[in-house]
Amino acid sequence: MTQSFDNLKNAIQAEPRTWLVTGCAGFIGSNLLETLLLLDQKVVGLDNFSTGFQHNLDEVQQSVSARQWANFNFIEGDIRDLDACKKAVAGVDYVLHQAALGSVPRSLDDPITTNAVNISGFLNMLVAAREAGIKSFVYAASSSTYGDHPDLPKVEDKIGNPLSPYAVTKYVNELYANVFARAYGFSSVGLRYFNVFGKRQNPDGAYAAVIPKWTASMIKGEDVFINGDGETSRDFCFVENAVQANLLAAANMPDEGSQVFNVAVNARTSLNELFAHLAETLGKNGVQYDKKPVYRDFRSGDVRHSQADISKAHEQLGYTPTHSILEGIEVAMPWYTQFLR
Ligand SMILES: NC(=O)c1ccc[n+]([C@@H]2O[C@H](COP(=O)([O-])OP(=O)(O)OC[C@H]3O[C@@H](n4cnc5c(N)ncnc54)[C@H](O)[C@@H]3O)[C@@H](O)[C@H]2O)c1
Repeated sequence: MTQSFDNLKNAIQAEPRTWLVTGCAGFIGSNLLETLLLLDQKVVGLDNFSTGFQHNLDEVQQSVSARQWANFNFIEGDIRDLDACKKAVAGVDYVLHQAALGSVPRSLDDPITTNAVNISGFLNMLVAAREAGIKSFVYAASSSTYGDHPDLPKVEDKIGNPLSPYAVTKYVNELYANVFARAYGFSSVGLRYFNVFGKRQNPDGAYAAVIPKWTASMIKGEDVFINGDGETSRDFCFVENAVQANLLAAANMPDEGSQVFNVAVNARTSLNELFAHLAETLGKNGVQYDKKPVYRDFRSGDVRHSQADISKAHEQLGYTPTHSILEGIEVAMPWYTQFLR
């Protein structure tokens, strides 16, 4: 049965459970952690700080009460270590598995580590969760699984060939989830995120996502680089929508089988439009950016356009995005201007 998000949050708060959030020191994981603690849940976190940060956890601590923070049990560990995964799932009701190495370019530079974390680490989590008798396993899948399939918007059962090692790993996650459902009766839900953005997304380094990277450059008055002609488009998804999808998926776990759902808003924004939105919203937040973007070559492994059909998640989970890209940017901008200086 599907429930609206507000009803679901009330129901979750009324009956506290124990959740495992892997990757809890990262961007999406720390937003999940914050929401769950604010709903008075017990949360176990597993992270090895490879791309996550202690300061993300510190920030969550600041935004919850001392009593709520006491419900958090952090395990520093690596999902490539099966024992760490087993320790993390012990006594847990729901798993939200977010830990992975993101970024298409990172996977092109170092396919071996991406494979080890995203495939072997994922398999460890499945094995540990199944052995522990976990009934609700939600994991971060990816829109990169659509690869070179030309259809727009993207519908869950029509995928093409992967365009990067990262995309291969995320597709293999889905294959393993399917096999665990068939072979062992272990149910799971994969959430195919499309370009999630919001507070605590890392702006730094070669593998940073476009929104925090550009916003940080704009705040510092630096050049913004657009890969290609700027007409590449994405279905940018505010992190609160992704949080909603996780909670709905956890509560609506299929009795049998594995499912995947698109998580975005079913809208398409070009990089040129995104540049304009960010500059304008920054202006409203007191930061003027007057430079023109600098265009350079297309980036290898990137798909040209991406847009999600979200009707499956809407119909089966009750997923209804609360924020468009513009609304999300408006909510996130004060955080960016405070922290990305
Ligand atoms: N952000 C997006 O737009 C997006 C899109 C599609 C899919 N995803 C997926 O969502 C998940 C979360 O992504 P994010 O954007 O929050 O990235 P992130 O890098 O901010 O968070 C990932 C977290 O996982 C941790 N981690 C990495 N390897 C680990 C390991 N071996 N053991 C334990 N912890 C480990 C990192 O330290 C980090 O805290 C990932 O699975 C990613 O592939 C994200």
